[in-house]
Amino acid sequence: MSDQTPTSNQTPRSQIDHLLNEDRRFAPPPEFAANAIATEELYAEASADREAFWAEQARALHWHKPFTEVLDWSNPPFAQWFADGELNVAYNCLDRHVEAGNGDRVALLWEGEPGDERRVTYAELTDEVKRLANVLQGLGIGEGDRVAIYMPMIPEAVAAMLAVVRIGAIHSVVFGGFSADSLRARIDDAGAKLVITADGGYRKGKVSPLKPAVDMALSDRNGSGVQETVEHVLVVKRGENEVEWTDGRDIWWHDVVPQASADHAAKAFPAENPLFILYTSGTTGKPKGILHTSGGYLTQSAFTNKIVHDIHPETDVYWCTADIGWITGHTYVTYGPLANGATQVLYEGTPDTPHPGRWWEIVQKYGVTILYTAPTAIRSFMKIGRSVPKQFDLSSLRLLGSVGEPINPEAWMWYRKVIGGKTAPIVDTWWQTETGAIMVSALPGVTETKPGSAQVPLPGISIDVVDEDGTHVGSGNGGLLVVTEPWPSMLRGIWGDPDRFVETYWDKFRAQGYYFAGDGARLDDDGDVWFLGRVDDVMNVSGHRLSTTEIESALVAHEATAEAAVVGASDETTGQAVVAFVIIKQSYLNENSAEGLSNTLRLWVGEQIGPIARPRDVYIVGELPKTRSGKIMRRLLRDVAEGREVGDTTTLADTAVMSVISAQVK
Ligand code: PRX
Repeated sequence: MSDQTPTSNQTPRSQIDHLLNEDRRFAPPPEFAANAIATEELYAEASADREAFWAEQARALHWHKPFTEVLDWSNPPFAQWFADGELNVAYNCLDRHVEAGNGDRVALLWEGEPGDERRVTYAELTDEVKRLANVLQGLGIGEGDRVAIYMPMIPEAVAAMLAVVRIGAIHSVVFGGFSADSLRARIDDAGAKLVITADGGYRKGKVSPLKPAVDMALSDRNGSGVQETVEHVLVVKRGENEVEWTDGRDIWWHDVVPQASADHAAKAFPAENPLFILYTSGTTGKPKGILHTSGGYLTQSAFTNKIVHDIHPETDVYWCTADIGWITGHTYVTYGPLANGATQVLYEGTPDTPHPGRWWEIVQKYGVTILYTAPTAIRSFMKIGRSVPKQFDLSSLRLLGSVGEPINPEAWMWYRKVIGGKTAPIVDTWWQTETGAIMVSALPGVTETKPGSAQVPLPGISIDVVDEDGTHVGSGNGGLLVVTEPWPSMLRGIWGDPDRFVETYWDKFRAQGYYFAGDGARLDDDGDVWFLGRVDDVMNVSGHRLSTTEIESALVAHEATAEAAVVGASDETTGQAVVAFVIIKQSYLNENSAEGLSNTLRLWVGEQIGPIARPRDVYIVGELPKTRSGKIMRRLLRDVAEGREVGDTTTLADTAVMSVISAQVK
């Protein structure tokens, strides 16, 4: 179905050349460099002996049974790291800090959207997780069982993740903005036995219900042919919204967790024990359950959080704004910072509720020193203007991070000047759900930074930019980003689908044994990497991955739709935006206005997948551009969506179709 032009989602050539002429450089501020955790020597150490380097990082964790093997790559692409070692991930994030005398340190500075707040110390969080672990075991959850977590950003969400992994079970966190259908698909794919949720959570000034979506996901299985796997639903009271109750299945958290025993010994599990599944969009309609395991994942999460975010646990107040429903929330809210004993802000709501300066108010209130966020957020703040952040004291900020999509130099400079007081280094961090942790980034205090470039692989990480044959492209050239050596936090597979794992990531460069990331990249004359966007049918909207095919499937599932094609068009704020071209069945066209149909379909996609997938534009068209073999040429639709002159149409079956479409979308 798809038009796989290699440059399909990428930045136009003229813009790239402009970017590569970027000559602004920012040396690390001397006072930052003097106290930085990262050092230049790390690169040399890692390249001298990569495995010994990772072993040393792994030893910063607590191992119940120390490992003697580092990497087993005898059966690629199925890697094993530290395989004969045993550890407990939750123990590493909690108990060991308490045992080291740091129980009174605040782990979570939680701020609810309405302005309520809670400070949770390491001792308190450990206690809560132990109680919950006992509750989970009482509900029959054990090693290897799957637990779905569908929660707002409240401390209980972090506790839930840690309690699940403490007992050797596997969590699958589903972003609270996903619909009941998306939740159901994820519950079914993983065969979850338990769902942990809340009645609702605050978003944009009101309670956004969650439990009703769980109820809907678990009802209505008529004809689905799927056996119900969920035995219980554990519900935190947060939104105080009315919820329905299924006796015997539903349990209030407050009825069982506080009463449970806080004695719970953390058992050791093998390093390759599965830790979590996280679903992400691929190029087909079916999301992939990315599987991560324990020892390698925690090693790289903690290490990168320490050196890239320069975490000094005694003095820093760290804030990663990601939701726990995404990989950034897993690695840089839950696992990395807690393994490092950091103090962090956890904020429930949206950046502009109840006022556009809400984030900056939080930075000022808690004295945030390290802020890690997405370019989309920065660009929306730019749009509102500097007068808003200027009303707050942001002088505590000493380091800024960016993640999720390419950050354009203009946004980078604004971030530096307006938020970072012209001194805070910026780290642009490239990685993916699949890589588990940061792979490419400047090291603060070490690297001279360059606006717009993610720059260099971290010590211990080997990447390259290659052409279609897997040959290094060399400085000044563009190609495909590959990872050339296995890394500790790499995905171990796709849940239930080993063939798809091999096909998606390893088949393309099978001869070389490279991991294919799906991103286009260029190397500049200094050898620094510039990421240019996806080369497949994956869109990146506000730093969130969406699949064109998944949205097309949702559109054609509506009774009015005959055919649909979706493209990611560049958008000033969100990076890319979803734009749909839809052919409507004749009978519906006669009865409805095009505008009414567009709106209905926009809302429909939101209901089917979740509001983040709602198209920015739905154009009702008479035809779609197809090649003679029937493939939709999305490249041409992208030209229309971005208001460009339509490119080469000679391979179309009907070359006139594009002028008709262009006229229809005006
Ligand atoms: O295209 C790259 C983009 O986000 C994709 C990964 O998305 P996801 O798995 O949802 O994880 C997002 C958070 C890690 C990548 O394939 N991406 C991520 N970070 C950057 C980026 N593109 C450019 N620069 C980045 N710093």
